Amino acid sequence: MKGTLTGNALGVLIILTLQILSVTCEISRVHQLIYKNQIPAKEWVKPQSGAITLSEGEQIALEVTNQLLPPPELSQKISDELKLIKYKYRVVSKISHQRKWVPGELISTKITAEQIRQVNSSSEYGPLVNVTTIDLLPFYIVSILSFNKPYNPLVLGEMLKFQYGFSSSPNSVYYDGDDIFYDLSSKTYIFKRRGCVDQEAVSTDSPPPRRRNDGVTCGEDSKHYWEFVVTDDDNVRLVKEYDIDGDGNRSFNRKYNSLAIIN
Ligand SMILES: *[C@@H]1O[C@H](CO)[C@@H](O)[C@H](O)[C@H]1NC(C)=O
Ligand SMILES: *[C@@H]1O[C@H](CO)[C@@H](O)[C@H](O)[C@H]1NC(C)=O
Ligand SMILES: *[C@@H]1O[C@H](CO)[C@@H](O)[C@H](O)[C@H]1NC(C)=O
Repeated sequence: MKGTLTGNALGVLIILTLQILSVTCEISRVHQLIYKNQIPAKEWVKPQSGAITLSEGEQIALEVTNQLLPPPELSQKISDELKLIKYKYRVVSKISHQRKWVPGELISTKITAEQIRQVNSSSEYGPLVNVTTIDLLPFYIVSILSFNKPYNPLVLGEMLKFQYGFSSSPNSVYYDGDDIFYDLSSKTYIFKRRGCVDQEAVSTDSPPPRRRNDGVTCGEDSKHYWEFVVTDDDNVRLVKEYDIDGDGNRSFNRKYNSLAIIN
């Protein structure tokens, strides 16, 4: 009798373990597909209906500062400068910034119903426009909180942790395709394009692009980068241009670099 009981318990344990393993496998398979870019930019958890979409300038400004909301002046500056770069360098005109997380949304596996009520009705960050809970596994419930302002989830998460004690994380977007990064300290815009680039970064006042024939290795996993700064007199300067191959090796293209000033 005792042996049977132990056997049953063991069976249940094995089944439970297998279930958890298969869920984990499913998640990591999805991750792999996303990283291989077979799935386009994807919110890990779907943004709630009514999620706020920011302009490219606002989203970048929010991501690169420690502000709770997009700082208006920086947002406008980034937006204007991106417009200028994309106008002067047509080769990057179709590249846009991919958001790293959904603004105004938090995911938490720790928050209690009482804390949700407090955040909604008595915190300075409420009201909540939506709360969705998902039972991912037994005893593993995920709550997605959607606020009515496009808060920076990292900053908001810190504040809520401090005031209410629960931890949370942003509703992240996994993406490894074309993108724009902004480096606040050097005021540099880094444009990234996946795959091979067969034309030079020509500005609108340069001669038309030629096919690249320089023998630079360019595999499927290669990425091409351009770095720009915008000077005070609204001139766009291509600072660097390079490829990074699938092994992470960086190569400067001599021909392209004749157009660039290396800092
Ligand atoms: C809350 O979010 C869920 C999931 O996206 C959606 O189905 C639902 O309609 C939303 N509710 C409201 C009131 O927006
Ligand atoms: C938040 O509070 C408002 C007003 O008290 C209420 O109508 C709404 O249902 C609450 N939302 C959630 C998600 O609890
Ligand atoms: C590229 O990186 C790999 C691994 O880091 C290294 O073994 C290889 O020698 C590098 N190739 C070149 C051409 O630098």
